[in-house]
Amino acid sequence: MDSSIIQCLSDRKFWILNTREAAYAFGLNEQKELEHAYWGERLPYESDYQFRDVERIGAPETRNDAVNNEYPAWGGPMFSEPCLKVCFADGVRDLSLEYAGYELLAPNKLMISLRDPHYNLVVRLHYVVHYDFDLIERYAEISNDGADTVRIDSAQSAVWSVPGDHQYRFTHLAGKWAGETQLRQSILDSGRKVIESRRGMTSLQANPWFALDRGLATEDEGKVWFGALAWSGNWKITAEVTPWNQVRITGGLNDFDFTFQLAAGNTFKVPSFTAGFTTHGFGGASRNMHRYQQAVILPKPHASSLRKVLYNSWYATHFDVNEEGQCRLAERAAALGVELFVMDDGWFGKRKDDRAGLGDWYPAPDKFPNGLNPLIERVKSTGMEFGIWVEPEMVNPDSDLYRAHPDWVLHFPNRSRSEMRSQLVLNLARSDVQEFIYSFMHKLLEEHRIDYIKWDMNRPFTEPGWPELPPFQQQEVWLRYVEGLYAILDRLRNAFPKVVFESCASGGGRVDNGILQRTDLAWASDNTNAVDRLAIQEGYSYAYTPGTMSCWVTDGWPDLLSLPYRFHISMMGVLGIGANLNEWNEEEMEVARQMIATYKDIRHIVQKGLQYRLNSPREGPLTAVQYVTEDKRESVVFFSVTHREHVSPWPNVYLRGLNPAAAYRVDGSKRVLSGQCLMSNGIQADLGRFYASKLVRLQAQAQ
Ligand code: DGJ
Repeated sequence: MDSSIIQCLSDRKFWILNTREAAYAFGLNEQKELEHAYWGERLPYESDYQFRDVERIGAPETRNDAVNNEYPAWGGPMFSEPCLKVCFADGVRDLSLEYAGYELLAPNKLMISLRDPHYNLVVRLHYVVHYDFDLIERYAEISNDGADTVRIDSAQSAVWSVPGDHQYRFTHLAGKWAGETQLRQSILDSGRKVIESRRGMTSLQANPWFALDRGLATEDEGKVWFGALAWSGNWKITAEVTPWNQVRITGGLNDFDFTFQLAAGNTFKVPSFTAGFTTHGFGGASRNMHRYQQAVILPKPHASSLRKVLYNSWYATHFDVNEEGQCRLAERAAALGVELFVMDDGWFGKRKDDRAGLGDWYPAPDKFPNGLNPLIERVKSTGMEFGIWVEPEMVNPDSDLYRAHPDWVLHFPNRSRSEMRSQLVLNLARSDVQEFIYSFMHKLLEEHRIDYIKWDMNRPFTEPGWPELPPFQQQEVWLRYVEGLYAILDRLRNAFPKVVFESCASGGGRVDNGILQRTDLAWASDNTNAVDRLAIQEGYSYAYTPGTMSCWVTDGWPDLLSLPYRFHISMMGVLGIGANLNEWNEEEMEVARQMIATYKDIRHIVQKGLQYRLNSPREGPLTAVQYVTEDKRESVVFFSVTHREHVSPWPNVYLRGLNPAAAYRVDGSKRVLSGQCLMSNGIQADLGRFYASKLVRLQAQAQ
């Protein structure tokens, strides 16, 4: 059989996209429709890839429910979720896409062209095969080659059809402020289930990631189809079971309150949607996504480097920042081995609380009479790098910026402007707003030796008006805002390639493959309770690599949750300290020093290795998470327990991902066990008491 990544069977007009373990096939059926044929394990023969026979289905209006169109346009007898819905200038809302050709752009890149012959609307479907990660990235480009403007009512990146006639379980991430990325599972029944954001941002409440299985997949085994959208604005993922038991996931831009005017001669690119198939359960799905994010998504040059141990002032000082106070914290942080000191909110304008200052990005004169440089130089003299918090997309009505430019915010005339956290949203779709943000950020980065930006965004859109545009165009704001945001970040990264960016939106409100192409890590949640974090971090890891997940050791709950416990749980991602170090005694400082030193020894395994969720916090009091380097020579396991059920003795936990033939030294002791033994017989999680934790290190011995 042909060993190409993409097989083009020109005689059949049929394409087979091969990854290491999976295959995805589609082609032209007898009716000349572009039909999806197969997605699953690779099959031995080309002739194995066939369309489903739907000829015996009687009623013509149900054909669409039975045939998995590869990019269904809304038109004709079409009653399921379309990928594209438009209105032509003459009012016709019937789109007919016919196959127009294909091009192999690279060994792993395919483009299929479709065209509405009457109106000359061209759709180019792009497929990028990420062979090693068993993933396929899809996006669509829509070009108006006709003479008149076309209104786009819905533009989806792709529909993913899984083998029909099975019952599927849908897994997704739901949440709220301080409770992000909670794993949810439900059986898909006839009809549609929609997860989405209508908030202008990715959202705390839902995340653009999904997984499907047949209810049987476990962490380690079983078929899982999964995917994530690369978009940080309004998105929508629709899971649909048609009356003929076809199962599809359609995802892309949310069509809620959205239209887009595509002028003649213009092209519109729908964000990409990357999906994969694995037989290695949910763990295999996550690891493929993690490796893809590390290799393809995360921005260069930082993608390959390790994230630093950082201190962030928010939990310790809130808005009450000044040079002396921050320096005192910085000195204490440096003494612990912290490598990067980040000053959070409160340093600018008339910012004393959340009611004023956003928009006035000059150092508050009462807090920093000589500007920021004295603080920065003092931080740098300790050997640490310096980072700073900004929230560029927002403005407080009580600010000079708003007084000068009240028209710069999203708003409708004749309507009040809903404030949330006393702030309004600047309209980043406007080029003057983009220029303002770019230039103050450029100045900030040029005039100060800043190594790190925490980019925050603390409220969703309301009254999403853009009065300067004609009414029929204003709904483009949902899209153009995000394009504006991306453009600013891209320009800044280009101008300051050494600066590391963190994405934050009231915690984990903006984590997705789109923002992760422009930011190096993300604030997973404002909730730092180590027990709550177990579920938040587990959910995060379903979709995103722990190498991007900032985690915080703070002062909360010290009687229940010991400092080592809080550290261990924060060491499962990018370790950050947020406690008020002025209040730590020498003993606590010493514990922290040791923990940070240990983290520096193991962080390459955590941030860049393969993650195995051994015991889930959703299933019992004992959580265990393991990380293994790609070469399988090093591994680390974090055990933690919350309440204790009456289990005695402590259960064995079965490790994963090791080399069965290798001999591993456990925790630097004399104990040497084979990888096979550690995986087949496990190790006992003897934690002794409630809310205890333990970190176990494994090192393969030279053979
Ligand atoms: C919300 C963020 O999630 C917090 O970490 C902090 O930066 C505050 N904003 C500051 O206002």
